[in-house]
Amino acid sequence: MSSPAQRIQQLRDELNSHNHAYYVDNRPVISDYDYDMLMKELEKLEAEHPELDDPFSPTHRVGSDITKGFEQVAHERPMLSLSNTYSVEEVDEWVRRCNDSLGNPDGLKSIPIVGEMKFDGTSISLIYEGGRLVRAVTRGDGEKGDDVTENIKTIRSIPLVLHGEGYPERFEIRGEIVLPWKAFDRLNEERAFNEEPLFANPRNAAAGTLKMQNAAEVSRRGLDAYFYYLLADELPCDNHYDNMLMARKWGFKVSHLMTLMDDISEVDEFIKRLDVERKELPVATDGLVFKVNNLRQQLNLGYTSKSPRWAIAYKFAAERALTRLRFVSFEVGRMGIVTPVANLEPVLLSGTIVKRASLHNEDIVKTLGIHEGDMLYVEKGGEIIPKITGVDTAAREPDAAPVKFITHCPDCGTPLVRIPGEAAWQCPNKYGCRPQIIGRLEHYVGRHAMDIDGVGEENAALLYDAGLVRDIADFYTLKAADLEALERVGPRTAQRILEGVEASKSVPFDRVIYSLSIPFVGETVARKLARGTGDIDTLMSMSRDELVAIDDIGPRIADAVIEYFCVPSNKVIVERLREAGLQMALPEEDKSDRTDLLSGKTIVISGVFSKHSREEYKEMIEKNGGKNSGSISKKTSFVLAGDNMGPSKLEKARSLGIPVIDENEFLAMIRK
Ligand code: IVH
Repeated sequence: MSSPAQRIQQLRDELNSHNHAYYVDNRPVISDYDYDMLMKELEKLEAEHPELDDPFSPTHRVGSDITKGFEQVAHERPMLSLSNTYSVEEVDEWVRRCNDSLGNPDGLKSIPIVGEMKFDGTSISLIYEGGRLVRAVTRGDGEKGDDVTENIKTIRSIPLVLHGEGYPERFEIRGEIVLPWKAFDRLNEERAFNEEPLFANPRNAAAGTLKMQNAAEVSRRGLDAYFYYLLADELPCDNHYDNMLMARKWGFKVSHLMTLMDDISEVDEFIKRLDVERKELPVATDGLVFKVNNLRQQLNLGYTSKSPRWAIAYKFAAERALTRLRFVSFEVGRMGIVTPVANLEPVLLSGTIVKRASLHNEDIVKTLGIHEGDMLYVEKGGEIIPKITGVDTAAREPDAAPVKFITHCPDCGTPLVRIPGEAAWQCPNKYGCRPQIIGRLEHYVGRHAMDIDGVGEENAALLYDAGLVRDIADFYTLKAADLEALERVGPRTAQRILEGVEASKSVPFDRVIYSLSIPFVGETVARKLARGTGDIDTLMSMSRDELVAIDDIGPRIADAVIEYFCVPSNKVIVERLREAGLQMALPEEDKSDRTDLLSGKTIVISGVFSKHSREEYKEMIEKNGGKNSGSISKKTSFVLAGDNMGPSKLEKARSLGIPVIDENEFLAMIRK
């Protein structure tokens, strides 16, 4: 038996490592339930042994989502969390406690309770003044968060100006920013295609999206928002339910599943009904929230340091199965990253058969402590991608060896290298490793790249193995007779491939850049590079500083571009593609309105404009050689301000002595 001090230390270490996996890596390795159980055990032990308390214990901290680059703003009222329950009994117990504290111990006529969905996204606080949205701040550490107003304004379901009447002159409304399932699936499909790491669930995707520095991309991803808490010095009604109905009238999305229950006996039924209905919802939920409806009763119940006593969360159990690990395979992607994959005895989970689950990287394999032939827990909570969440160590064979990460590429045998600062191992044999080459060929012909019909995953491997296509430029030397000589390729497919190859010659320059498989160059970055350089010769000759001066191009991308064009065989490929007749420059009409008028200038756009949209202004800045930036700093050359520019931004620009100009002045500036 370990002493309380030892157990406390062990729990703290474990929770710290899970916090990192969850908040930093976005890859939780245990279920929320198991995490909560560890946290509860630690809270209990710490309460029993106050002498062992430590201000750095994980029980003292609320997860922070603060990112660099956003202005930090203090919350007017702290954003607390909710305590969790996992059974109807615990919810009943909470209602009884509320009744007791309010001097209604018999609970004959229980207090009215509101039941709601617990949306699984990222929380937001919005401030409205005079019926207009003035600020949006993330939860952050609960005391202060990031000002993400510009990104929030891209969410179509959030009213910028309120409808109706009766709203307080100034109020706060809190809700959850979510990424609906459809948008989440689309985003992950794109990311899979670009070999970018997938988001494990819509919650991580929503949180990640909200922190992007590019509001246009935020807008494209399709976030949504549900609201569940109204705060003001004077609220229109004396109870939560009616206040939310008012908020709905002002234009906020308030879930229609919100239910007012007059008595505790309705809670059980509500839980059963919602556990079914939630499966049909367009967004992810991870439970329910119960709130005391009456605001005076809420006030009397008050708060603990972490959460209100007048509300409680009820978490649905994640669906989980136990199955045997057959073996771990190691798969090499287009960029040479080696991913361990658990191959499982097939098991039914939430209606689908699961046979494989990614183990992501070496650190995750180690944290889980997986041994050969282990019985593994597979879970699908809000996640669509199955996740290994634990090992049943009691079922382990005594002589089972721990699963070892490989040291050499499973395909070409090259010693693997660990990417500095990351958990990933990579095969460095970029140009000689079969799965990497085939991965690049598949990428090249893909729908978002050159869109060469007829060459799918299998045909790319076939063409490579037959020696017909060893690199992307070889597509342009293919002959019908060579293709038809291949088994499994008939004359019709051969014809389709050749037509696709021919059509690819008119694919625009930005997609040509994207098709080259330069590390970190996805579709958006390729577009920026195309616009920022104009043609391939300029792109190939640019220095690191010149590349970094292009909007949204950071040092990591700049280095990858330079490295790519330093490799002689890549230069040869580009020349061969040019000879084949591919588009190696932007069309002339795009180039003709390009100037250097804003060259070297970093510009922040803020507010609402009347002559052009923000996106149009951003494009004008880029076309004239300037760089867009999301936040004001010493490096800002000037702020292009429209109406309603946030007062904090204005103040910051003033204090740093940065000029603020309006749209007319700006248009005059770029008039040639
Ligand atoms: S009420 C003072 N209602 O759950 C308590 N929260 O685990 C205010 N959440 O931080 C929160 N759906 O981000 C409330 N219907 C709902 C909710 C909800 C999701 C989130 C919210 C909160 C977290 C607590």
